[in-house]
Amino acid sequence: MRLTVIGTGYLGATHAACMAELGHEVLGVDVDPEKIAALSAGKVPFHEPGLPELIAKHTASGRLRFTTSYAEAGAFGEVHFVCVGTPQRRDSDAADLTYVDAAFAALAAHAAPDALLVGKSTVPVGTAGRLARTCDPEVAWNPEFLREGFAVEDTLRPDRLVFGVESARAETILRAVYAPVLAAGTPLVTADFPTAELVKTAANAFLATKISFINAMAEVCEAAGGDVRTLAEALGHDDRIGPKFLSAGVGFGGGCLPKDIRAFAHRADELGTPLSFLREVDAINMRRRDRVAQLARELCGGDVLGVRVAVLGAAFKPGSDDIRDSPALAVAARLRLEGADVTVHDPEAMDNARKAFPLLGYALTAEDALRGAGLVLHLTEWPQFRAIDPERAAMLVARPRIVDGRGVLDADRWTAAGWRFRALGRPAPEEEGQ
Ligand code: UGA
Repeated sequence: MRLTVIGTGYLGATHAACMAELGHEVLGVDVDPEKIAALSAGKVPFHEPGLPELIAKHTASGRLRFTTSYAEAGAFGEVHFVCVGTPQRRDSDAADLTYVDAAFAALAAHAAPDALLVGKSTVPVGTAGRLARTCDPEVAWNPEFLREGFAVEDTLRPDRLVFGVESARAETILRAVYAPVLAAGTPLVTADFPTAELVKTAANAFLATKISFINAMAEVCEAAGGDVRTLAEALGHDDRIGPKFLSAGVGFGGGCLPKDIRAFAHRADELGTPLSFLREVDAINMRRRDRVAQLARELCGGDVLGVRVAVLGAAFKPGSDDIRDSPALAVAARLRLEGADVTVHDPEAMDNARKAFPLLGYALTAEDALRGAGLVLHLTEWPQFRAIDPERAAMLVARPRIVDGRGVLDADRWTAAGWRFRALGRPAPEEEGQ
């Protein structure tokens, strides 16, 4: 089939490449000529494992092309996927629908009357219905659930597909697009528009709630002298709860969970069905950043003024160079404001971090960041950081003091190597056994 993908960010570029991999002819469309030039040359402007190979393969085979022209897209596509961003508005918690509205308006003007316009962007419930009333070609909604770092895998082998459709024709077309994925046994849920839109926001709200739940338990453990890692392990053995998304730490960030729960709470207020617990989920998440800063101050004897702080991590999670709403950089920036001399290292996100936080210091290697540091903060759990040898690290730093903001370092090993070691939701070693 001939598909277009509107918006070539991490969702759109991945969707376009994966649709080509499924055997379709794909045209990626973006208003940014630089992005289009890079992608046309087979280059991916962000870190996503497996994606550069797929884009190179299909731009070379001719099955995947890119353009800035909606007229070309309209003439080419039988099915158009809208994958543009829905960031948080500047003036409220609501989602900014400027890009979605512009994409549908441009498609309405250029697409063939019998084309299918498929929204994939995360939108407030009610958006698909509104767009369907303003567009001549038929509209469908097909939310995405891909995780950064696993975007290719999640697109080619998703946990489920959700089709929000208003006709059997739209369902038939979407079934044809995803035929190989469905043939592999992927569960399909067909739904009306509001339900399809809500599946996405509800899924992200649930994941954020699960993370904040365990982080709230971390707060209780801190007050009561418990250990949240052991608590999470024991909870996770209950099949009904499961072990995933129970890693306590400095909390969730990124371009999705934080803005999606705010937009969902905002939309729920508009509908008169408040989801006030989501505000608490957000507040718990933000308090974890405060807690890391507090532990940093405590380890430094009250304040961090003039302390050389090495921050390990800038990306919002490992496997990504995305620094949107990164807890690591939020903490780094805060400690700098408190007078610390902060040096950050991240395996992939250095360029993005430098652009967004030009006043922080940056080191090209973790060793360079550690050299001479009076305090180390481990804030993004890259495997490279977990592999650091605490004895060697102790020889590099000025003072062996570390906060593990992700709860994955081996406290006993670090303590045995002479470090003062603090983690979220766990007793300080000297408090153990009391
Ligand atoms: C998230 C969802 O997981 C995807 O299903 C969804 O499609 C995507 O948002 C989206 O809306 O597009 P992503 O933002 O890539 O995906 O990241 P996650 O893997 O969900 O991690 C989110 C944040 O939660 C990260 O900062 C991570 O470090 C944190 N996290 C995750 C924890 O703090 N604890 C955990 O146990 C798990």
